[in-house]
Amino acid sequence: MSKPEVILIAAMSIDGFIAPKDQEKLPSTVWTSKEDWRFFTKKSKEIGTMIMGSKTFETIKRALPDRRTIVMTSKPEKYNKYIDSNLEFTTSNPEDILNNLAQQGLEKVALCGGAHIYSLFLQKGLIDRMFLTVEPYVFGEGVKLFSISAEEKFILIGQERLNEQGTLLLEFQRK
Ligand SMILES: NC(=O)c1ccc[n+]([C@@H]2O[C@H](COP(=O)([O-])OP(=O)(O)OC[C@H]3O[C@@H](n4cnc5c(N)ncnc54)[C@H](OP(=O)(O)O)[C@@H]3O)[C@@H](O)[C@H]2O)c1
Repeated sequence: MSKPEVILIAAMSIDGFIAPKDQEKLPSTVWTSKEDWRFFTKKSKEIGTMIMGSKTFETIKRALPDRRTIVMTSKPEKYNKYIDSNLEFTTSNPEDILNNLAQQGLEKVALCGGAHIYSLFLQKGLIDRMFLTVEPYVFGEGVKLFSISAEEKFILIGQERLNEQGTLLLEFQRK
């Protein structure tokens, strides 16, 4: 049984940050475009299952509709009140989560952040594809897409301009 294809989805600044240093001053609802949100919603629903870290979950604090969400945390009991049919909390490592999904017959899973979880999967060579929405902002400081050193090679397989301001959607596949 092969593991599901892991498809990273992220919005980032021109200089590679997925969040600015001061997120209260510049929340993602301001710096990411409505076209990015539409893309994220459509693609994550199409894939059907999302994996994210507990810090990212804490920015939404609910199950997103019509998708299954798997939240990685070392303290699942902290999130008991949020559990529902589409939302689960796990202490499993990436390989076990993917093996489990493969046993359930899943072919794809969306990797939805944040930096810690993106980095964990990258470090283990588990990212197959990436959809990166580049918003025309420069942050200088903030949360980087990846927070580890790596030499993984990807190839650009798709590009689209999403709006007038120049939000770019880039699709990369692992070489
Ligand atoms: N622009 C975008 O597309 C985008 C997307 C997603 C997130 N973000 C941003 O990214 C930031 C959050 O990123 P982050 O790196 O701080 O946090 P994160 O990756 O969302 O979550 C990290 C947390 O996950 C848990 N965890 C990590 N490894 C684990 C493992 N092996 N097993 C079980 N649990 C594990 C730990 O929390 P516990 O204490 O619960 O164990 C850890 O602190 C936020 O600012 C968010 O807005 C941006």
